Amino acid sequence: MADMGDMRGRVALVMGGGAGTGRATALAFAREGARVAIADINEEGARETLSLVEELGAEGLAVRADMASGADIQATLARVRERFGSLHMVSNNAALGAPNKPLTEITEQEYDRCMGVTLRGVWLCMKYQLPLIEASGGGAIVNIASVSGLRGEALQSAYAAAKGGVITLSKAAAVEYAKRGVRVNTVCPGGINSGGMAFYLDKMPAELRQKTLDAHAMGRLAEPGEIADAVVYLCSARASFITGHDLVVDGGVLVRSNVIDL
Ligand SMILES: NC(=O)c1ccc[n+]([C@@H]2O[C@H](COP(=O)([O-])OP(=O)(O)OC[C@H]3O[C@@H](n4cnc5c(N)ncnc54)[C@H](O)[C@@H]3O)[C@@H](O)[C@H]2O)c1
Repeated sequence: MADMGDMRGRVALVMGGGAGTGRATALAFAREGARVAIADINEEGARETLSLVEELGAEGLAVRADMASGADIQATLARVRERFGSLHMVSNNAALGAPNKPLTEITEQEYDRCMGVTLRGVWLCMKYQLPLIEASGGGAIVNIASVSGLRGEALQSAYAAAKGGVITLSKAAAVEYAKRGVRVNTVCPGGINSGGMAFYLDKMPAELRQKTLDAHAMGRLAEPGEIADAVVYLCSARASFITGHDLVVDGGVLVRSNVIDL
């Protein structure tokens, strides 16, 4: 892909960087010359991503952290500050869905757990990341939302609501920090060919699996690197006037017609 401008000397953090899109994002930052901290609830996954980052010749750091825990996020940022002295670019990528169920059947615990990671977790991350980025001279945050947060999703009401919240939360943060040197945007993916999605796809009957692919005008899911490229672009100097934007990267899910199927 195109050179995103000089990210050498810049410090990036990927929350949920131990697999899938988060791992691809960590690697994309490393290719642009950034130093990359990888935080994940799965410490082994974070360490594996770190090895891949180091294979690219970049410097990195792996931390175990739960995005639903303010204490873990603060500890992660302390490690980043101690190791690199600053923070400029963040992707808040981890999320948790609720089981596929009608709204009336989701339990209060399932709803709270989904919200706790997917929406409150992004708020917690930004609460503690924004002051450090500002103190580092400015930078950018990209929160990973979803097309589900723009149009709703049957049987995934809690997840859709959480992702819709991530989009408006990011716009609010963008306004608060617009004159303070921190840009805040979201990327809204359609289906991604990640471990998380494979878990659901593998269990689906063949017909439903095909329907899932066909929901994308391009007839396929995104590769994690295609989402990562959008994240790195929004963090780069080339996106210097973009803030409060929700960038849809969905292979045509939202524009696909249900009437005329090409
Ligand atoms: N996969 C899709 O089809 C799809 C579609 C639209 C949006 N998204 C969004 O894209 C993002 C990445 O999805 P993915 O499919 O690449 O994920 P994934 O399941 O492949 O990887 C997610 C990573 O986050 C980590 N994680 C989970 N809970 C965490 C927590 N509480 N704290 C810290 N780390 C945690 C996991 O250990 C894993 O390493 C998510 O925000 C997801 O909602 C995914």
